[in-house]
Amino acid sequence: MLPRIQNLLKSLEVTRETFWNIHEETGKFLNLLIVSQKYKTVLEIGTSNGYSGIWLAEALSHTKGHLYTIESNLKLRFHLATENFKKSGLSKYITQIPGHAPQAIPPSTAKPKKFDLVFFDATKHEHISYWKLLKNRINKSGTIITDNAISHKKELTQFIKEVQKNKNFTSVILPVGTGLFIAIKN
Ligand SMILES: C[S@@+](CC[C@H](N)C(=O)[O-])C[C@H]1O[C@@H](n2cnc3c(N)ncnc32)[C@H](O)[C@@H]1O
Repeated sequence: MLPRIQNLLKSLEVTRETFWNIHEETGKFLNLLIVSQKYKTVLEIGTSNGYSGIWLAEALSHTKGHLYTIESNLKLRFHLATENFKKSGLSKYITQIPGHAPQAIPPSTAKPKKFDLVFFDATKHEHISYWKLLKNRINKSGTIITDNAISHKKELTQFIKEVQKNKNFTSVILPVGTGLFIAIKN
């Protein structure tokens, strides 16, 4: 990773709690997953100020892929993310989508129809609605990852049960950061 990007990530970690950013080890995990699996199309729900997006887009700069990232806070966080993406030099790998998921999820009639990785990091009680829209839009061996699977276990129980019922996915919870629920398309 370029020192400029490493330094930017370090500077953003100071305000991690203010912007509800993922932990550094979660960023590293997502970055390594994308590079090792050669994932190209990634959708993130919950951009905040772009911290996780930089980890995702840095990996996509190696796989020549692209990140689509949705943020509903248009007063502040959406614009802070635009600035941080510019500072990272990774803007060309990123499309920011303003709006509230699930409505703001790009339709399957547009490109990309399917994703290699979808990262859920927004309002917990809405995850089932994201899942319903996206479960058939994951490429084979692609992954849906949800943050806070351990820290917000109770809020995510119903969603996790719903995913576990689906025979097309195999899932696990890993103690990375606040806990990652990982569901891989068989
Ligand atoms: C936990 S923070 C995301 C942190 C970010 N992924 C990171 O680690 O840098 C959640 C963000 O999702 C946004 N959000 C919440 N519900 C949303 C929704 N339904 N659609 C889009 N964004 C949403 C919030 O405004 C907030 O900025």
